[in-house]
Amino acid sequence: MNQKWNVGNYDKDFKFVSEYTKDLIGMIDKEGVNLVLDLGCGTGEHLKQLSEFGNVIGLDMDEEMLTKALKKNPEVDLVLADATNFELDEKVDVVFSSAVFHWIDKKDQLKMLKAINQNLNSGGQLVFEMGGYGNNDLIHATFKELFEEFGYEYIKPFYFPTIGEYANLLEEAGFKVTYAVLFDRFTPLKGPDGLKNWIKMFLNNPFEIVSEEDREDLIDKGVKKLKVHLFRNGQWFSDYVRLRMKAVKDQAI
Ligand code: BEZ
Repeated sequence: MNQKWNVGNYDKDFKFVSEYTKDLIGMIDKEGVNLVLDLGCGTGEHLKQLSEFGNVIGLDMDEEMLTKALKKNPEVDLVLADATNFELDEKVDVVFSSAVFHWIDKKDQLKMLKAINQNLNSGGQLVFEMGGYGNNDLIHATFKELFEEFGYEYIKPFYFPTIGEYANLLEEAGFKVTYAVLFDRFTPLKGPDGLKNWIKMFLNNPFEIVSEEDREDLIDKGVKKLKVHLFRNGQWFSDYVRLRMKAVKDQAI
């Protein structure tokens, strides 16, 4: 999927995306690890913590994100590439990824997992978190209904799988799944316009087909409808559901 990022606002208002997943790094088994890949490293928030395990490579397909990552982590190797089609100079021991896989179209997931397999050493670890089954259901259901009222088709631009579905894909791509959990994470958003800002940052794609004049109106109506569910004690929340998994490379493919 092609997503246009507002890189400045991303770090300012959505730092929680990376802060929540710092403990995900704790799922990496340190033994024998020399080289780690952060797949979809974005603005490079995890690179420093990952470098405790050895050398780190950050890969992302957004050049502006990588420029920001480089400023924060001048010592780290950064690669501009597509997660579904990449080849590193050397194989890595760990592929780590946070809040990235749900951006990849369902039809390209197996291709991405095979690319990961091919860039991992034998027995290498894949540790990741993504939006899981049911992620942001309230938000997407509300906009689906509103888009229809306004005469548009709402196309949800994300892939939020169940554990079973994703475990099958991992096995098909030569991995052995060693850990999986799906859990709700009702997540506070920053500021009095927290939900509106979230929609503007992350729902660009479905709104591309909406005329300029309908856009603000549609967003405002959505925010108003969602208030009863996602606004509590003066605070906006996002109805996140997370899928965390760990898998090891079992077969070369
Ligand atoms: C997520 O991290 O689950 C997510 C973030 C933005 C848009 C969709 C999903």
